[in-house]
Amino acid sequence: MSKTKIVVAFSGGLDTSVMVKWLSHKYDAEIIAATGNLGQRAELENLEEKAKIAGAAKSVVMDLRSEFVNNYVFPALKAGALYERTYPLATAIGRPLLAKMMCDIAIAEGAEVIAHGCTGKGNDQVRFEVGIQALAPSMSILAPLRFWEFKSREEEMNYANLHKIPVKATKDSPYSIDENLWGIAIECGVLEDPTVAPPEDAYQITTNPKFALDNSEEIKLTFEKGIPVGLNGQTYDPVELLELLNEIGGKHGIGRIDMIENRVVGIKSREIYEAPAAVILHYAHNELEKLILDRETFRFKQVISDKVANMIYDGLWFTPLFKSLMVFVDATQENLSGDVTLELYKGNLKVLSRTSPYSLYNMKLATYTNEDTFDHRSSEGFLKIYGLPYKTMSEILQSQKENKVI
Ligand code: ARG
Repeated sequence: MSKTKIVVAFSGGLDTSVMVKWLSHKYDAEIIAATGNLGQRAELENLEEKAKIAGAAKSVVMDLRSEFVNNYVFPALKAGALYERTYPLATAIGRPLLAKMMCDIAIAEGAEVIAHGCTGKGNDQVRFEVGIQALAPSMSILAPLRFWEFKSREEEMNYANLHKIPVKATKDSPYSIDENLWGIAIECGVLEDPTVAPPEDAYQITTNPKFALDNSEEIKLTFEKGIPVGLNGQTYDPVELLELLNEIGGKHGIGRIDMIENRVVGIKSREIYEAPAAVILHYAHNELEKLILDRETFRFKQVISDKVANMIYDGLWFTPLFKSLMVFVDATQENLSGDVTLELYKGNLKVLSRTSPYSLYNMKLATYTNEDTFDHRSSEGFLKIYGLPYKTMSEILQSQKENKVI
Protein backbone atom coordinates (compact mmCIF):
# COMPACT_ATOMS: atom_id res chain seq x y z
CA MET A 1 0.00 0.00 0.00
CA SER A 2 1.33 3.44 -0.84
CA LYS A 3 1.99 5.88 1.95
CA THR A 4 -0.43 8.66 2.82
CA LYS A 5 0.67 11.91 1.21
CA ILE A 6 0.49 15.05 3.30
CA VAL A 7 1.04 18.56 1.92
CA VAL A 8 2.56 20.71 4.64
CA ALA A 9 2.45 24.51 4.57
CA PHE A 10 6.17 25.01 5.12
CA SER A 11 7.77 28.31 6.14
CA GLY A 12 11.23 27.05 7.00
CA GLY A 13 10.84 28.11 10.64
CA LEU A 14 11.04 25.90 13.72
CA ASP A 15 7.36 24.90 13.98
CA THR A 16 6.91 23.74 10.42
CA SER A 17 10.35 22.07 10.24
CA VAL A 18 9.57 20.01 13.33
CA MET A 19 6.10 19.35 11.91
CA VAL A 20 7.45 17.78 8.72
CA LYS A 21 9.45 15.20 10.69
CA TRP A 22 6.75 14.66 13.30
CA LEU A 23 4.02 14.03 10.71
CA SER A 24 6.16 11.67 8.65
CA HIS A 25 6.77 9.58 11.80
CA LYS A 26 3.37 9.76 13.35
CA TYR A 27 1.42 8.90 10.20
CA ASP A 28 4.18 7.04 8.34
CA ALA A 29 3.47 9.57 5.61
CA GLU A 30 5.16 11.01 2.56
CA ILE A 31 5.52 14.73 3.13
CA ILE A 32 5.34 17.36 0.42
CA ALA A 33 6.52 20.70 1.76
CA ALA A 34 4.78 23.65 0.09
CA THR A 35 5.95 27.25 0.38
CA GLY A 36 4.52 30.36 -1.22
CA ASN A 37 6.66 33.40 -1.82
CA LEU A 38 4.47 36.43 -1.05
CA GLY A 39 7.44 38.75 -0.73
CA GLN A 40 8.63 37.76 2.75
CA ARG A 41 12.33 38.41 3.06
CA ALA A 42 13.24 35.88 5.73
CA GLU A 43 13.63 32.15 5.50
CA LEU A 44 13.27 31.79 1.74
CA GLU A 45 16.87 30.71 1.14
CA ASN A 46 17.62 27.02 0.82
CA LEU A 47 14.03 26.15 1.55
CA GLU A 48 14.04 23.03 -0.58
CA GLU A 49 17.13 21.78 1.20
CA LYS A 50 15.69 22.65 4.61
CA ALA A 51 12.50 20.76 3.80
CA LYS A 52 14.41 17.69 2.65
CA ILE A 53 16.62 17.68 5.75
CA ALA A 54 13.49 17.94 7.89
CA GLY A 55 12.25 14.79 6.19
CA ALA A 56 10.12 15.94 3.26
CA ALA A 57 10.04 13.69 0.20
CA LYS A 58 9.47 16.71 -1.98
CA SER A 59 9.55 20.47 -1.69
CA VAL A 60 7.60 22.92 -3.82
CA VAL A 61 8.36 26.64 -3.64
CA MET A 62 6.06 28.89 -5.64
CA ASP A 63 6.61 32.52 -6.48
CA LEU A 64 3.14 33.91 -5.89
CA ARG A 65 4.09 37.58 -5.66
CA SER A 66 2.37 38.77 -8.84
CA GLU A 67 -0.76 36.75 -8.20
CA PHE A 68 -0.79 38.02 -4.63
CA VAL A 69 -0.62 41.67 -5.62
CA ASN A 70 -2.97 41.49 -8.61
CA ASN A 71 -5.64 39.16 -7.26
CA TYR A 72 -5.55 39.74 -3.51
CA VAL A 73 -3.86 43.04 -2.59
CA PHE A 74 -5.41 45.21 -5.31
CA PRO A 75 -8.97 43.95 -4.76
CA ALA A 76 -8.55 44.71 -1.04
CA LEU A 77 -7.20 48.16 -1.87
CA LYS A 78 -10.06 48.89 -4.26
CA ALA A 79 -12.48 47.82 -1.53
CA GLY A 80 -10.79 50.17 0.97
CA ALA A 81 -10.50 47.17 3.30
CA LEU A 82 -9.02 48.21 6.64
CA TYR A 83 -9.91 45.93 9.56
CA GLU A 84 -11.42 47.85 12.44
CA ARG A 85 -10.68 50.92 10.33
CA THR A 86 -6.92 50.42 10.77
CA TYR A 87 -5.18 47.16 9.82
CA PRO A 88 -4.52 46.80 6.06
CA LEU A 89 -4.88 43.01 6.41
CA ALA A 90 -1.51 41.85 4.99
CA THR A 91 -1.50 38.46 6.73
CA ALA A 92 -5.24 37.97 6.28
CA ILE A 93 -5.04 38.56 2.53
CA GLY A 94 -2.09 36.21 2.12
CA ARG A 95 -3.78 33.20 3.74
CA PRO A 96 -6.48 32.49 1.15
CA LEU A 97 -3.85 32.46 -1.58
CA LEU A 98 -1.69 30.05 0.42
CA ALA A 99 -4.74 27.87 1.03
CA LYS A 100 -5.38 27.84 -2.72
CA MET A 101 -1.75 26.96 -3.39
CA MET A 102 -1.89 24.03 -0.97
CA CYS A 103 -5.10 22.73 -2.54
CA ASP A 104 -3.59 22.99 -6.04
CA ILE A 105 -0.45 21.14 -4.95
CA ALA A 106 -2.41 18.48 -3.04
CA ILE A 107 -4.62 17.82 -6.05
CA ALA A 108 -1.64 17.69 -8.45
CA GLU A 109 0.28 15.35 -6.14
CA GLY A 110 -2.67 13.11 -5.33
CA ALA A 111 -2.49 13.96 -1.63
CA GLU A 112 -5.58 13.80 0.53
CA VAL A 113 -4.30 15.61 3.61
CA ILE A 114 -3.15 19.20 4.11
CA ALA A 115 -1.34 20.24 7.29
CA HIS A 116 -0.57 23.71 8.58
CA GLY A 117 1.40 25.17 11.47
CA CYS A 118 -1.17 27.55 12.93
CA THR A 119 -2.02 27.54 16.62
CA GLY A 120 -5.47 26.95 18.04
CA LYS A 121 -6.03 30.53 19.18
CA GLY A 122 -5.19 32.53 16.08
CA ASN A 123 -6.97 33.77 12.99
CA ASP A 124 -4.79 32.03 10.46
CA GLN A 125 -6.15 28.54 11.22
CA VAL A 126 -9.58 29.94 10.34
CA ARG A 127 -8.42 31.43 7.04
CA PHE A 128 -6.55 28.28 5.99
CA GLU A 129 -9.24 25.83 6.96
CA VAL A 130 -12.24 27.73 5.63
CA GLY A 131 -10.28 28.32 2.40
CA ILE A 132 -9.39 24.64 2.04
CA GLN A 133 -12.95 23.52 2.76
CA ALA A 134 -14.30 25.92 0.15
CA LEU A 135 -11.78 25.00 -2.53
CA ALA A 136 -11.14 21.29 -1.98
CA PRO A 137 -13.91 19.89 0.23
CA SER A 138 -12.60 16.33 0.23
CA MET A 139 -9.24 17.23 1.80
CA SER A 140 -8.56 16.26 5.40
CA ILE A 141 -6.89 18.96 7.45
CA LEU A 142 -4.32 18.49 10.19
CA ALA A 143 -3.17 21.20 12.57
CA PRO A 144 -0.54 19.48 14.75
CA LEU A 145 0.13 22.57 16.86
CA ARG A 146 -3.35 22.13 18.32
CA PHE A 147 -2.65 18.63 19.61
CA TRP A 148 1.00 17.59 19.52
CA GLU A 149 3.02 16.89 22.68
CA PHE A 150 5.38 19.89 22.54
CA LYS A 151 4.53 22.52 25.11
CA SER A 152 7.29 25.02 24.38
CA ARG A 153 9.86 26.15 21.88
CA GLU A 154 12.54 24.39 23.91
CA GLU A 155 10.76 21.06 23.56
CA GLU A 156 10.53 21.59 19.82
CA MET A 157 14.23 22.47 19.75
CA ASN A 158 15.08 19.26 21.59
CA TYR A 159 13.07 17.26 19.09
CA ALA A 160 14.79 19.10 16.23
CA ASN A 161 18.24 18.36 17.68
CA LEU A 162 17.35 14.73 18.29
CA HIS A 163 16.36 14.34 14.65
CA LYS A 164 19.21 16.47 13.33
CA ILE A 165 16.93 19.13 11.91
CA PRO A 166 19.06 22.27 11.63
CA VAL A 167 17.53 25.18 13.51
CA LYS A 168 19.05 28.60 13.66
CA ALA A 169 21.84 28.74 16.26
CA THR A 170 21.34 32.48 16.70
CA LYS A 171 19.18 33.66 19.55
CA ASP A 172 15.72 33.86 18.08
CA SER A 173 13.76 37.07 18.01
CA PRO A 174 11.29 37.34 20.92
CA TYR A 175 8.63 38.25 18.39
CA SER A 176 6.41 36.28 16.08
CA ILE A 177 6.66 37.94 12.69
CA ASP A 178 4.65 37.42 9.54
CA GLU A 179 5.65 39.31 6.44
CA ASN A 180 4.54 39.83 2.87
CA LEU A 181 4.55 42.65 0.33
CA TRP A 182 1.47 44.27 1.86
CA GLY A 183 3.01 44.53 5.32
CA ILE A 184 4.49 42.94 8.41
CA ALA A 185 2.67 41.77 11.55
CA ILE A 186 4.66 41.57 14.77
CA GLU A 187 3.41 40.13 18.05
CA CYS A 188 4.46 38.27 21.23
CA GLY A 189 7.22 39.10 23.69
CA VAL A 190 6.83 42.42 25.46
CA LEU A 191 4.19 43.45 22.89
CA GLU A 192 1.69 41.25 24.73
CA ASP A 193 1.46 43.96 27.39
CA PRO A 194 -0.77 46.70 25.96
CA THR A 195 0.50 49.20 28.53
CA VAL A 196 4.01 49.01 27.09
CA ALA A 197 5.00 51.00 24.02
CA PRO A 198 6.67 48.87 21.34
CA PRO A 199 10.44 48.80 21.75
CA GLU A 200 12.37 50.00 18.72
CA ASP A 201 13.71 46.53 17.94
CA ALA A 202 10.19 45.29 17.23
CA TYR A 203 10.04 47.31 14.03
CA GLN A 204 11.57 45.66 11.00
CA ILE A 205 11.21 47.92 7.96
CA THR A 206 10.37 51.43 9.08
CA THR A 207 12.48 54.20 10.55
CA ASN A 208 11.27 55.77 13.76
CA PRO A 209 9.46 58.95 12.56
CA LYS A 210 11.46 60.94 15.12
CA PHE A 211 14.67 60.02 13.37
CA ALA A 212 13.33 59.99 9.84
CA LEU A 213 14.67 62.25 7.12
CA ASP A 214 14.47 65.97 7.83
CA ASN A 215 13.42 66.67 4.27
CA SER A 216 9.92 65.84 3.15
CA GLU A 217 9.35 63.99 -0.12
CA GLU A 218 6.63 64.45 -2.70
CA ILE A 219 5.36 61.47 -4.63
CA LYS A 220 2.79 61.33 -7.41
CA LEU A 221 0.73 58.15 -7.70
CA THR A 222 -1.21 57.32 -10.84
CA PHE A 223 -4.29 55.10 -10.62
CA GLU A 224 -6.22 53.36 -13.38
CA LYS A 225 -9.62 51.92 -12.48
CA GLY A 226 -8.68 51.91 -8.79
CA ILE A 227 -5.30 50.25 -9.29
CA PRO A 228 -1.97 52.03 -8.80
CA VAL A 229 0.03 51.82 -12.02
CA GLY A 230 2.61 54.57 -11.79
CA LEU A 231 4.87 56.54 -9.51
CA ASN A 232 6.23 59.98 -10.38
CA GLY A 233 5.20 59.62 -13.99
CA GLN A 234 6.80 56.23 -14.49
CA THR A 235 4.93 52.98 -15.00
CA TYR A 236 5.76 50.12 -12.64
CA ASP A 237 5.09 46.45 -12.40
CA PRO A 238 2.75 45.92 -9.37
CA VAL A 239 5.29 43.95 -7.31
CA GLU A 240 8.03 46.51 -7.98
CA LEU A 241 5.70 49.37 -7.12
CA LEU A 242 4.90 47.88 -3.70
CA GLU A 243 8.57 47.21 -2.98
CA LEU A 244 9.44 50.77 -3.89
CA LEU A 245 6.65 52.30 -1.81
CA ASN A 246 7.62 50.16 1.18
CA GLU A 247 11.13 51.49 0.87
CA ILE A 248 10.20 55.15 0.36
CA GLY A 249 7.48 55.11 3.04
CA GLY A 250 9.67 53.13 5.43
CA LYS A 251 12.44 55.66 5.40
CA HIS A 252 9.95 58.43 6.24
CA GLY A 253 8.59 56.39 9.15
CA ILE A 254 5.21 55.85 7.48
CA GLY A 255 2.96 52.85 8.11
CA ARG A 256 3.57 52.01 11.77
CA ILE A 257 0.40 50.77 13.45
CA ASP A 258 -0.03 49.71 17.08
CA MET A 259 -3.43 48.20 17.69
CA ILE A 260 -5.66 46.09 19.87
CA GLU A 261 -7.88 43.97 17.66
CA ASN A 262 -10.75 41.52 18.00
CA ARG A 263 -9.75 38.03 16.87
CA VAL A 264 -12.16 35.56 15.30
CA VAL A 265 -11.82 33.21 18.29
CA GLY A 266 -13.14 35.88 20.62
CA ILE A 267 -10.02 37.23 22.28
CA LYS A 268 -8.49 40.64 22.00
CA SER A 269 -4.86 40.76 20.97
CA ARG A 270 -2.25 43.43 20.58
CA GLU A 271 -0.28 43.52 17.40
CA ILE A 272 1.95 46.00 15.69
CA TYR A 273 2.11 46.37 11.95
CA GLU A 274 4.40 48.03 9.47
CA ALA A 275 2.76 48.66 6.14
CA PRO A 276 4.21 51.71 4.39
CA ALA A 277 3.00 50.84 0.87
CA ALA A 278 -0.45 49.83 2.11
CA VAL A 279 -0.94 52.98 4.19
CA ILE A 280 0.23 55.23 1.36
CA LEU A 281 -1.92 53.52 -1.26
CA HIS A 282 -5.08 53.39 0.87
CA TYR A 283 -4.67 57.07 1.65
CA ALA A 284 -4.15 58.06 -1.98
CA HIS A 285 -6.92 55.78 -3.24
CA ASN A 286 -9.36 57.26 -0.77
CA GLU A 287 -8.43 60.80 -1.85
CA LEU A 288 -9.25 59.85 -5.42
CA GLU A 289 -12.59 58.35 -4.39
CA LYS A 290 -13.51 61.60 -2.63
CA LEU A 291 -12.94 63.40 -5.92
CA ILE A 292 -14.62 60.93 -8.27
CA LEU A 293 -17.40 58.96 -6.60
CA ASP A 294 -20.87 60.43 -6.37
CA ARG A 295 -22.10 61.02 -2.83
CA GLU A 296 -24.40 58.00 -2.48
CA THR A 297 -21.84 55.56 -3.87
CA PHE A 298 -19.14 57.04 -1.66
CA ARG A 299 -21.28 56.71 1.47
CA PHE A 300 -22.49 53.20 0.68
CA LYS A 301 -18.99 52.06 -0.19
CA GLN A 302 -17.86 52.94 3.34
CA VAL A 303 -20.31 50.36 4.67
CA ILE A 304 -19.11 47.80 2.12
CA SER A 305 -15.45 48.52 2.93
CA ASP A 306 -16.09 47.63 6.53
CA LYS A 307 -17.95 44.46 5.61
CA VAL A 308 -15.27 43.36 3.14
CA ALA A 309 -12.54 44.00 5.74
CA ASN A 310 -14.40 41.89 8.30
CA MET A 311 -14.91 39.08 5.80
CA ILE A 312 -11.23 39.05 4.83
CA TYR A 313 -10.20 39.06 8.48
CA ASP A 314 -12.66 36.30 9.31
CA GLY A 315 -11.39 33.97 6.58
CA LEU A 316 -14.36 34.33 4.25
CA TRP A 317 -12.54 35.19 1.00
CA PHE A 318 -13.84 32.24 -1.03
CA THR A 319 -17.52 32.77 -0.31
CA PRO A 320 -20.49 33.84 -2.43
CA LEU A 321 -21.14 37.03 -0.48
CA PHE A 322 -17.52 38.11 -0.75
CA LYS A 323 -17.59 37.52 -4.50
CA SER A 324 -20.77 39.56 -4.85
CA LEU A 325 -19.43 42.43 -2.80
CA MET A 326 -16.32 42.55 -4.94
CA VAL A 327 -18.49 42.88 -8.04
CA PHE A 328 -19.96 45.99 -6.42
CA VAL A 329 -16.49 47.24 -5.54
CA ASP A 330 -15.27 46.77 -9.11
CA ALA A 331 -18.26 48.66 -10.47
CA THR A 332 -17.36 51.62 -8.25
CA GLN A 333 -13.84 51.68 -9.66
CA GLU A 334 -14.85 52.11 -13.31
CA ASN A 335 -13.89 55.82 -13.32
CA LEU A 336 -11.31 55.68 -10.54
CA SER A 337 -8.42 56.94 -12.64
CA GLY A 338 -6.20 59.92 -11.94
CA ASP A 339 -3.20 61.24 -10.05
CA VAL A 340 -2.67 61.95 -6.37
CA THR A 341 0.35 63.83 -5.08
CA LEU A 342 1.34 63.25 -1.48
CA GLU A 343 3.92 64.69 0.85
CA LEU A 344 5.73 62.23 3.11
CA TYR A 345 7.28 63.67 6.24
CA LYS A 346 8.28 62.05 9.53
CA GLY A 347 5.54 59.47 9.71
CA ASN A 348 2.86 61.70 8.18
CA LEU A 349 1.07 61.77 4.88
CA LYS A 350 -0.48 64.88 3.43
CA VAL A 351 -2.36 65.20 0.17
CA LEU A 352 -1.03 68.03 -1.98
CA SER A 353 -3.03 67.56 -5.14
CA ARG A 354 -5.56 65.27 -6.81
CA THR A 355 -6.68 65.29 -10.39
CA SER A 356 -8.77 63.09 -12.67
CA PRO A 357 -10.58 63.34 -15.99
CA TYR A 358 -13.56 61.90 -14.08
CA SER A 359 -13.43 64.39 -11.22
CA LEU A 360 -16.88 65.53 -10.09
CA TYR A 361 -15.39 68.59 -8.47
CA ASN A 362 -16.73 71.55 -10.39
CA MET A 363 -14.98 74.80 -9.61
CA LYS A 364 -17.86 76.86 -11.01
CA LEU A 365 -20.23 75.20 -8.54
CA ALA A 366 -17.79 75.26 -5.63
CA THR A 367 -16.43 78.78 -5.87
CA TYR A 368 -17.45 81.70 -3.65
CA THR A 369 -16.21 84.22 -6.21
CA ASN A 370 -18.27 85.90 -8.94
CA GLU A 371 -17.53 82.93 -11.22
CA ASP A 372 -20.17 81.08 -9.21
CA THR A 373 -22.88 79.39 -11.30
CA PHE A 374 -24.69 77.60 -8.45
CA ASP A 375 -28.38 78.56 -8.28
CA HIS A 376 -28.67 79.86 -4.71
CA ARG A 377 -32.38 80.65 -5.10
CA SER A 378 -33.34 77.03 -5.74
CA SER A 379 -32.09 76.19 -2.24
CA GLU A 380 -35.06 78.10 -0.83
CA GLY A 381 -37.64 75.62 -2.14
CA PHE A 382 -35.34 72.69 -1.50
CA LEU A 383 -34.97 73.60 2.18
CA LYS A 384 -38.71 74.12 2.73
CA ILE A 385 -39.27 70.52 1.68
CA TYR A 386 -36.10 69.06 3.16
CA GLY A 387 -36.91 70.47 6.62
CA LEU A 388 -40.64 69.72 6.37
CA PRO A 389 -40.67 66.50 8.48
CA TYR A 390 -38.99 68.28 11.39
CA LYS A 391 -41.16 71.35 11.10
CA THR A 392 -44.26 69.15 11.14
CA MET A 393 -42.99 67.23 14.16
CA SER A 394 -42.08 70.35 16.05
CA GLU A 395 -45.54 71.84 15.42
CA ILE A 396 -47.24 68.69 16.76
CA LEU A 397 -45.07 68.59 19.89
CA GLN A 398 -45.71 72.26 20.48
CA SER A 399 -49.49 71.86 20.29
CA GLN A 400 -49.38 68.75 22.55
CA LYS A 401 -47.53 70.77 25.17
CA GLU A 402 -50.06 73.58 24.94
CA ASN A 403 -52.96 71.12 25.26
CA LYS A 404 -51.48 69.63 28.44
CA VAL A 405 -51.05 72.98 30.11
CA ILE A 406 -54.70 73.83 29.61
N1 ARG B 1 -3.29 39.78 13.66
C1 ARG B 1 -2.99 39.59 12.28
C2 ARG B 1 -4.09 38.87 11.57
O1 ARG B 1 -4.84 38.17 12.19
C3 ARG B 1 -1.65 38.90 12.06
C4 ARG B 1 -1.55 37.49 12.53
C5 ARG B 1 -0.16 36.88 12.44
N2 ARG B 1 0.78 37.62 13.21
C6 ARG B 1 2.03 37.25 13.48
N3 ARG B 1 2.78 38.12 14.08
N4 ARG B 1 2.50 36.09 13.18
O2 ARG B 1 -4.22 38.97 10.37
